[in-house]
Amino acid sequence: MLLEIKDLEVEVEGKKILNGVNLQINEGETHVLLGPNGAGKSTLFMTILGFPNYKVTKGTILYKGQDITSLETHERIKLGLGVTFQNPPAIRGVKLKDLLKIEDTNKEYKNDEELDEEVVKLGERLKLNENFLERDVNLGFSGGEVKRSELLQLMAQQPDFIMFDEPDSGVDIENVELISKEIVSLLDQKNQKSSKGGLLITHLGYILRFVDATHAHILIDGKITRTGKPEEVMDDIRTSGFKEV
Ligand SMILES: Nc1ncnc2c1ncn2[C@@H]1O[C@H](COP(=O)(O)OP(=O)(O)OP(=O)(O)O)[C@@H](O)[C@H]1O
Ligand SMILES: [Mg+2]
Repeated sequence: MLLEIKDLEVEVEGKKILNGVNLQINEGETHVLLGPNGAGKSTLFMTILGFPNYKVTKGTILYKGQDITSLETHERIKLGLGVTFQNPPAIRGVKLKDLLKIEDTNKEYKNDEELDEEVVKLGERLKLNENFLERDVNLGFSGGEVKRSELLQLMAQQPDFIMFDEPDSGVDIENVELISKEIVSLLDQKNQKSSKGGLLITHLGYILRFVDATHAHILIDGKITRTGKPEEVMDDIRTSGFKEV
């Protein structure tokens, strides 16, 4: 098992947001997290990553069998967790290229020039050219460029368990296909014995035509209220709405 969340309760700024979340994700699985605005989806991601404002008042988070509930964020990232943020901050003075070079986990035995070449090649896969990589992280990036830049960082990092927070929102139709291809590759979905796992938040569902999800969950008011096959759960939401489902 990659990730196991047991009876998780979380407070943000003294307000209870998650009310007993249980979730298990195995190697080779990709789960979709659905739910209305404000349900607590992003809060769950931030808590799994261990951001300081997200206070766990009950429950545990296990990653590959290890209790990570009280680890620092950087320690969790080192263990192999990765994320694309819904609204990442701009980082003035830090070039995207330099960040990618730091994040690259495939850099052993490479000199700076080779590493440079490698990140430029990764960028080209997402139609982000070398000039683009010279820009400050997220500063003035368009909505769709932010999403691709987030994904590019994961491609450098190659984590084992990956959370995608609305990677498709604001992305044009052609680029949804492009980013989906990279998500499939990051999760090693073409491999029957993939050791990767993922959790993906989406509102649109269109991305699921390209990314193979194995499970879907609906989160409402900080609790998972339904789990099922992605197509069935999505269909039910479309016909009856979140609350009914
Ligand atoms: N720092 C904070 N201070 C106060 N409230 C917060 C804070 N962070 C999150 N919340 C609240 O927690 C609730 C859950 O927010 P969250 O971002 O997890 O929702 P979400 O399910 O990701 O929604 P969306 O689909 O709109 O992205 C919201 O009501 C939000 O306003
Ligand atoms: Mg959110």
